[in-house]
Amino acid sequence: VKDGSLIPRFGRARRDPGLAVLEGFHPVKHALRFGATLQLLVTSDPRELSRLARELAPELAAQMTELARAVDEETFRALSPLAPTTPVMALAERPAVDAVEVLAHGRQAPVILLEDPRDLGNMGACVRVAAAADAGGVLSTGSHDPWHPDALRGAAGLHFALPVARLGGLEALDGTGRPLLALDPAGEPLDPARLQGRAVLAFGSERRGLSEELTARAERLISIPMREGVSSLNLATSVAAVLFAWRVCARSPEGA
Ligand SMILES: C[S@@+](CC[C@H](N)C(=O)[O-])C[C@H]1O[C@@H](n2cnc3c(N)ncnc32)[C@H](O)[C@@H]1O
Repeated sequence: VKDGSLIPRFGRARRDPGLAVLEGFHPVKHALRFGATLQLLVTSDPRELSRLARELAPELAAQMTELARAVDEETFRALSPLAPTTPVMALAERPAVDAVEVLAHGRQAPVILLEDPRDLGNMGACVRVAAAADAGGVLSTGSHDPWHPDALRGAAGLHFALPVARLGGLEALDGTGRPLLALDPAGEPLDPARLQGRAVLAFGSERRGLSEELTARAERLISIPMREGVSSLNLATSVAAVLFAWRVCARSPEGA
C-alpha cells in the first residue's frame, strides 16, 4: 500500500521528544516485550514479519500481526535514512523518565552515567548492556539525546527495559547517597567486590575521557586492567566489563 503521509509522519517523529522511532524487528520486539505503547507499526513484508515473530517472539506474534500496517517497499525505505535489514519499523510513545527519580531509587543496582558521549551507536550499546546486566538506569550528559533513533537502534530497543534519561548537571548527584565511582584508565585496578550496589558508575567521553569536574566529585577512580600498550577500551565495552564484573560478583556467594 502506498501511503505518502507516512514519510512526513516518521520525519516529524524523529524530532519529537515524546516519541521513539524503532527501526527493525529486534527494537520493535524488545520495546513491546518491555511494555511500550506503539502508535504505529509498518512492514514492507507482512509474511516475513509474521515468520520472524513466530520464530523470535511467539508471545508477541498475534499482537504484531494485528498492529502491522503494510506499506510498499519504496515507502518503507523512505521512512529511515538507513532502512533496517528486517522489514519492520514502528513509532512508540516514550516513557517519561526523570533522572532525579532514577537516582533516588533504592534498588541495589548501579546507575550508569555517560559523560558527554559522542557516538549514538555507542550510547545504544551502553543501554543494551545495562539492560542485560539489569542496571538501575542509564543517564547521560551532553548534547546528544539518548533516545535518538540511532541510539535506539544500537540498543535494539532496550531503552524500554530500564530508565534512560538525560541528566541536567552533575549537581543532581548531590545528596542522593550514591557513591560516585569514575572509570578511568589511570585509576586503581577494579575490585568487583568493592562495587557498591547503589553506585553511580561514571564513564567519560570517547575521545576526551572524564571531565575535571566529574573526576573531582568522584569518591574513587577505577581502572579496568589492560595489557600494556593498549590505551583504553571502547566506551560501551568498558561499561560491559564493569557491569558484568558487578553482576557476577554480586550473585556469587562471596559477593552476596
Ligand atoms: C574511549 S575511553 C576514553 C579514552 C580517553 N582518551 C581517556 O584516556 O580516558 C571512554 C571511557 O571509557 C572508560 N574506559 C575505557 N577504558 C578504560 C579502562 N581501561 N579503565 C577504566 N575506564 C576505561 C573511561 O570512562 C573512558 O573515559
